[in-house]
Amino acid sequence: MSRIFDEDLKYSFGTKAVHAGQRPDPTSGAIMTPIFQTSTYAQPALGVNKGYEYARGKNPTREALERNIAALEGGIHGFAFASGMATVDSIMKLFKSGDRIVCADNMYGGTPRLFDRILVNLGLSFTYVDTRDPQVVADAMTPDVRAIIVETPTNPLMWITDLAAVGEVAKRHGALFVVDNTFATPVFQRPLEFGADIVYHSTTKYLNGHSDMVGGCAVVNDDELAARLQFILNAAGAVPGPFDAWLVLRGTKTLHLRMAAHDAGGRRVADWLAGSMGEERVFYPGLASHPQHALAARQMTGFGGMISIELGSRAAAESVVNRLKVFTLAESLGGVESLVCHPASMTHASVAPERRARLGISDGLVRFSVGIEDVSDLLADIEGAFHELNI
Ligand SMILES: Cc1ncc(COP(=O)(O)O)c(C=O)c1O
Repeated sequence: MSRIFDEDLKYSFGTKAVHAGQRPDPTSGAIMTPIFQTSTYAQPALGVNKGYEYARGKNPTREALERNIAALEGGIHGFAFASGMATVDSIMKLFKSGDRIVCADNMYGGTPRLFDRILVNLGLSFTYVDTRDPQVVADAMTPDVRAIIVETPTNPLMWITDLAAVGEVAKRHGALFVVDNTFATPVFQRPLEFGADIVYHSTTKYLNGHSDMVGGCAVVNDDELAARLQFILNAAGAVPGPFDAWLVLRGTKTLHLRMAAHDAGGRRVADWLAGSMGEERVFYPGLASHPQHALAARQMTGFGGMISIELGSRAAAESVVNRLKVFTLAESLGGVESLVCHPASMTHASVAPERRARLGISDGLVRFSVGIEDVSDLLADIEGAFHELNI
């Protein structure tokens, strides 16, 4: 586990993004953290080492990243993993057979797939509820519940969970509150400040921001919880290589600048979409018409670049995604480049069709990840695709 440098905390977000967790390399003075491409470390004598024994447990490049992300999230201990899913899987190893997790109905499709197709076989149980209503979460708290896990905003429906209210429910029942902060990033939302015990990310997305690696991370405040997670990290070994850790560390240096651009572009694109197809068919928490806009504005300081729209049918969705040129049809999100995706057949294909239908992940739903290109080009791209379809 990597603990933040306390002296980094006096700085504002952008300064932390560039510097937190990193110091010039003591052997060379290198300003940028070197990629420590090594699996092991020389031990001068039996029982003597320089703080590093074997790279599954600890690597200086990864350590700098872990410290950096922990500082950005306002936490104390950071952990880097090989993917977002490896992060969730490692967090779930905190629990044991017979334990129950209350889980948000709408999450990235791979999360319920891990729970329902793998972890249930190991004796964990999952109760799925609509976490938009804290009372529904409270009602689901049976004595075997050990954690509540949510994503906010959700992928792809942009539902919002009231972090303070659900954090309160978790606390009342002695359960851990676990939050996927991938969509908002610590630039716009810091769940630990609202009572979360563990915040995690797919670093594949905004934290790396350049679509050139797959990774994950978790941040906690509590020392005892951190020690348990570090034990799992080392024992199960779902860690990233040093080069991937370095790529994320390079990404977080510009996170605040990129997120400001994603947010500015996201608002313009969402406004245009709402104006042309009707605000009830555009899902973006920054729109005043979003049913949870007031809550979003209370716990987030920006809304980012993720937008979903309801086009009514698979045929209409297909026509739009096929006509876009600047937006590329691809899975994933959060990179500098704009992407478009069809959740029902791509990111959420593993969710059972009845459940997709119940949630509203319809065949006509299309999700945009607005990049940092010139907004005029993005708007012209969407306008062109819509024009040909007479939307
Ligand atoms: C919100 C969210 N959480 C977790 C994940 C899983 O992350 P990874 O693909 O890095 O395993 C994703 C992937 O799309 C995601 O969108």
